[in-house]
Amino acid sequence: MLKNKKISIIGTGNMGEALLSGLISSESSYPKNIICTDIRENRLTSIQEKYGVATTTDNIKAIEPSEIIIYAVKPQIIASVLKETASCLDMSKLVISIAAGVPLAAIESCLNKKLRLIRVMPNIAAFVKESASVVAAGGEATEEDIKLSLDIFNSMGKSIFLKENILMDAITGLSGSGPAYIFLIVEALADAGVKVGLSREDALFLSSQTVLGAAKLLLETKEHPGRLKDMVTSPGGTAIAGIHTLEKGGLRTTLINAVEVATKRSKELGEIMIKNFSNE
Ligand SMILES: NC(=O)c1ccc[n+]([C@@H]2O[C@H](COP(=O)([O-])OP(=O)(O)OC[C@H]3O[C@@H](n4cnc5c(N)ncnc54)[C@H](OP(=O)(O)O)[C@@H]3O)[C@@H](O)[C@H]2O)c1
Repeated sequence: MLKNKKISIIGTGNMGEALLSGLISSESSYPKNIICTDIRENRLTSIQEKYGVATTTDNIKAIEPSEIIIYAVKPQIIASVLKETASCLDMSKLVISIAAGVPLAAIESCLNKKLRLIRVMPNIAAFVKESASVVAAGGEATEEDIKLSLDIFNSMGKSIFLKENILMDAITGLSGSGPAYIFLIVEALADAGVKVGLSREDALFLSSQTVLGAAKLLLETKEHPGRLKDMVTSPGGTAIAGIHTLEKGGLRTTLINAVEVATKRSKELGEIMIKNFSNE
């Protein structure tokens, strides 16, 4: 059970803190069971004061007594942090990486030993506990490891398990990068509101709340988006006139192309990383 497990978070920056906050506020874990690391002492002091967890700048000291290790450092440095801590990793520990674009194969080639490995692709909405996260497992991870990982990432949003490791690039292209597409859409809608006479503040609020409301409606009713679209397009009305323009502008094709190209880019970056990691 997650609540009784000793967890260490290696790198308590933005995502590490989002994870910590989710685990504690959802009561999925006790502060006494969590130890956080970072290279910045002042960062750790504020984390300790805010959440009541143990902290240290010594990654090995944090990992040794822990059963679950979550690597939340930047992809550029994860190889060196893994190498630094490799001596205290073994099959008794569940090792989770959230580093964007770093394939399990890269971690395996860097550590070169059997480990219960899990890779998770969360997104930036973790900060408001609304991340769409995907959990993928390495060959040695057990059903229990997958369940524990889902419990951890459900504390900062909603997550699903993906059997196919290989689809992680598609996840990166869709939900990992997705918030950026939506920010662009919201900003464009706000610009549109300003163009038709609204204040910037009102236009931005209305476009953001509209995206939130539409997403909530989809998730709560589980209706097909096409059916919900039909419900708001009355004959000869305003919404269908707007949709006609969006279709002429190729909105659907543009979004499909964006996800496809981001997926391809994620794959390319992953391949570069596998090469670099094995040379580290
Ligand atoms: N942010 C997102 O939206 C997002 C989404 C999906 C996945 N991710 C992944 O989540 C991971 C963390 O991202 P982030 O945005 O939270 O980055 P971040 O804010 O930079 O957090 C990483 C933390 O680790 C610290 N650190 C650096 N070297 C360390 C070491 N040797 N040992 C322990 N801690 C160390 C950093 O300190 P310094 O700042 O002083 O270097 C920083 O406080 C990344 O791999 C990223 O790809 C992030």
